[in-house]
Amino acid sequence: MKGLVYRGPGKKALEEVPHPRIEQPTDAVVKILRTTICGSDLHILKGDVPTVKPGTVLGHEGVGVIEEVGQAVSAFRKGDHVLISCISSCGRCEYCKRGMYSHCSVAGWMLGHTIHGTQAEYVRIPFADTSLHRIPDGMDEEALVMLSDILPTGFECGVLNGKVQPGSTVAIVGAGPVGLAALLTAQFYSPAEIIMIDLDDNRLEVALTFGATKTVNSGRENAVERVMALTGGIGVDTAIEAVGIPATFVLCQDIVAPGGTIANVGVHGTKADLHLERLWAHNITLTTRLVDTVTTPMLLKTVQSKKLDPQRLITHRFALADILEAYETFEKAAQTRALKVIIG
Ligand SMILES: NC(=O)c1ccc[n+]([C@@H]2O[C@H](COP(=O)([O-])OP(=O)(O)OC[C@H]3O[C@@H](n4cnc5c(N)ncnc54)[C@H](O)[C@@H]3O)[C@@H](O)[C@H]2O)c1
Ligand SMILES: [Zn+2]
Ligand SMILES: [Zn+2]
Repeated sequence: MKGLVYRGPGKKALEEVPHPRIEQPTDAVVKILRTTICGSDLHILKGDVPTVKPGTVLGHEGVGVIEEVGQAVSAFRKGDHVLISCISSCGRCEYCKRGMYSHCSVAGWMLGHTIHGTQAEYVRIPFADTSLHRIPDGMDEEALVMLSDILPTGFECGVLNGKVQPGSTVAIVGAGPVGLAALLTAQFYSPAEIIMIDLDDNRLEVALTFGATKTVNSGRENAVERVMALTGGIGVDTAIEAVGIPATFVLCQDIVAPGGTIANVGVHGTKADLHLERLWAHNITLTTRLVDTVTTPMLLKTVQSKKLDPQRLITHRFALADILEAYETFEKAAQTRALKVIIG
């Protein structure tokens, strides 16, 4: 079968790879119907994630159909359509019991990281009973690919950690797929204002159609002054950092109101300043989180009842044979206006 293989920093290839087999009784083998590319895959390709060994098939998102299950799998059988969670969880360890699946002591982020991932014809899913979700009949399966990672990420790390409330003011720094997922799910709580901040006018335009009330292009205008002007000089109750660079983490500290929350979502590769000399007296809360995907069943229900429409995040489609072109389109998002690209 074919899979997209990481070959070391800057190198990837669509290659013939071995068909996955059941290795543990708790495994399932899933035939991939649709997958996608994540910003984290680009981080891996830059060499930012050294825990990914050359030779690994990338990808941690997707939907598919069960091909085979191990003897201990009881929740699924051949032919079931499933949503793959980017986080695998044993469901039994101390962290899983606390809902912190990303810190599962025997699993966590494995797919396309420490084991072969979903950008292939088939994938082996460890702990299948607790790492897959059955897809209810009649749902738009392509749209559900957005629930493997980016929607739970935006919601758990941004909206829940950020304590978005009815009537509150929210700023989301970064209008990439994750920031936009936070924007969509923040609206479950009816905040009064959602200010979207990015450098890319196209993404800011998209954000307005997704429910942002104001946008700020921080490349052209002074974002701190603009946010202060928009909030009566107070700042925002929730500042969600969805970029992952020091400048945007500092921007969040400059725009959060006293009593507010900074919810960091971005993956940071270098150290970033925390201005405690100013913030110690401002009663702020700072949160960090690796997505647990603990809210995926809830998000699935909101999609089913049409309260959430993840299809809006999909801009391009490719066959697996054209996955290199899909990467190029996703990498050049500013030119191609890509948000999420579907493969399969
Ligand atoms: N915590 C988690 O579990 C988790 C999970 C998935 C992704 N992430 C991280 O979330 C972040 C966002 O992911 P994404 O896929 O949306 O990434 P992305 O790269 O597609 O989007 C980032 C956005 O930030 C904008 N940006 C860049 N520099 C900026 C600046 N100086 N000011 C304002 N905007 C700026 C870009 O134009 C882009 O629209 C990444 O760091 C990703 O690794 C975290
Ligand atoms: Zn991801
Ligand atoms: Zn566990």
